[in-house]
Amino acid sequence: MARPKVVLPDKGISEKEVLKKMEEIREDDINWKDGKVWSLVYHASEDHTEMLKKASNMFFSKNALSPMAFPSLKKFETEVISMAVDLFGGDNRCCGSMTSGGTESLLMAIKTYREWAREKYPEIKEPEMVVPSSAHPSFDKAADYFGVKIVKVPVDKETHRADVKGMENAITKNTILMVGSACDFPRGVVDPITELANIAKERGIGMHVDACLGGFMLPFVKKLGNNVPDFDFSVPGVTSISADVHKYGYGAKGASTIMYRRERVWKHQFSVYTDWTGGIYISPSMRGTRPGGPIAAAWASMKALGEDGYLGLAKVVMKATKELIDGINQIPELYIIGDPVMSVFSFTSDSLDIYNLGDIMDKKGWHLDRIQFPNALHMMVNPHHASIVDTFLKDLKEAVKQIKEHPEASSDGDAAIYGMVASLPDRNKVKDYIVNFLKSQYKFK
Ligand SMILES: Cc1ncc(COP(=O)(O)O)c(C=O)c1O
Repeated sequence: MARPKVVLPDKGISEKEVLKKMEEIREDDINWKDGKVWSLVYHASEDHTEMLKKASNMFFSKNALSPMAFPSLKKFETEVISMAVDLFGGDNRCCGSMTSGGTESLLMAIKTYREWAREKYPEIKEPEMVVPSSAHPSFDKAADYFGVKIVKVPVDKETHRADVKGMENAITKNTILMVGSACDFPRGVVDPITELANIAKERGIGMHVDACLGGFMLPFVKKLGNNVPDFDFSVPGVTSISADVHKYGYGAKGASTIMYRRERVWKHQFSVYTDWTGGIYISPSMRGTRPGGPIAAAWASMKALGEDGYLGLAKVVMKATKELIDGINQIPELYIIGDPVMSVFSFTSDSLDIYNLGDIMDKKGWHLDRIQFPNALHMMVNPHHASIVDTFLKDLKEAVKQIKEHPEASSDGDAAIYGMVASLPDRNKVKDYIVNFLKSQYKFK
């Protein structure tokens, strides 16, 4: 049998060679620093990033699996949660943990409510959660992992926010949890959390707010005088919140928070095994080993920025967002979907193929995420985008003109693939197609 092409070298190579090779390998990566990428990277400033690297390096080898071995990491984690709880209107009875990201926080929330319901409502054998259709796929993932049925309710057609009546009607005797987003990824709108939480409270079930994306932005957007619906622990009935430090908290990647109003719910998050030959094993989240770097960098980010730092960044981001939204709305063929609350939004067109527009923008060096139902292009604004707003709008206008003049020339590239995938009625076929695509990306020869 043939060995794979790449195998462990017989002899190790020098540090210089390793780093040189890595420099070469990264040449094909997208260059996010020029502001042309609208997702994946959250960046406060060069100086802030350098500080995060130093903070992360100081705790590079440490492992938060054991709070006893590294009291420093325990202090950082406790204080990150404490600062976040306070930011989200919680009191000192709130509690929580740090995780590796939004997905892990949401997985932990669903695992926690499943265990909590097993104790509180033992008669429920097939637990369900009611979520708006805009909720992040991490909830589907959690449903798959933990055997909690996910009941999705279409969002309101006009506002794109969760449909309160629809969600109430979807509650059954098996429902243990309701979910809302602040804000959601597709449209950047905040669900009617107060109304949803009221219903959850009345029914004696959990209410989780997914503030992974907006958590570290919305409080400051509100302080700047914008209209932000209530979404945090100040809303009676909200029982837990997830918020990512590695998004608008401007921490290093691998840092999120999951917070609960009460310890009696949080306790169900932990996994404890008392009879292992390797000793008593307890872990607060999905992972065993928990790298110290992202925890330390999260703490450093929050301490270094403080309230005034976050406010300043939010001001820059909201100004750029407003300019972008105004500019897009001025192009007659395009419009923003819904009424985004912060710096995340999508836009589409009734007269042009929006994915074709995405392809033309790609050719001009931009990277806009494609989203669907309806097909649209997606943007998440960061401070480093402030300087390229005008260039973006100029290129966008040109791209629209180009499609109108040559509609036939633009139906290649990603548009064809995205268009095909979006329009296939058999979603299982789409799943197979995507899995095969991803497998092919990682397959070695
Ligand atoms: C609303 C929302 N929730 C959860 C997540 C998942 O976060 P992560 O990619 O850090 O796992 C995201 C990611 O964009 C998100 O937008």
